[in-house]
Amino acid sequence: MLIDGKPVSSCLTLVSNIEDKQVTTVEGLAQDGELDPVQQAFLKHQAFQCGFCTTGMIMAVKGLLNAYPHPSEEQAKDYLSGNLCRCGTYVEVLAAVKELGE
Ligand code: FES
Repeated sequence: MLIDGKPVSSCLTLVSNIEDKQVTTVEGLAQDGELDPVQQAFLKHQAFQCGFCTTGMIMAVKGLLNAYPHPSEEQAKDYLSGNLCRCGTYVEVLAAVKELGE
């Protein structure tokens, strides 16, 4: 999830520490029935397989683009390094990031 636009691990975040902060979860990305551009790019590039990591990966990409609207591949790799995908969809995720950052 994002706290004030920055990704955090929800399982390690105490609610008492985020009072008065803006919390965004993957469920809050779509607006008026339209998927967020990051969600659309993940679909276009098939940047998921089993889906276990996908919500975290999408939110991390949102945070990446908030921090670096036009990230280099190295910035993207570094920023997303905490998100593990056991299906190995990293190439597709980076392809989605590349398109979003153009
Ligand atoms: S899509 Fe399966 S763990 Fe990432």
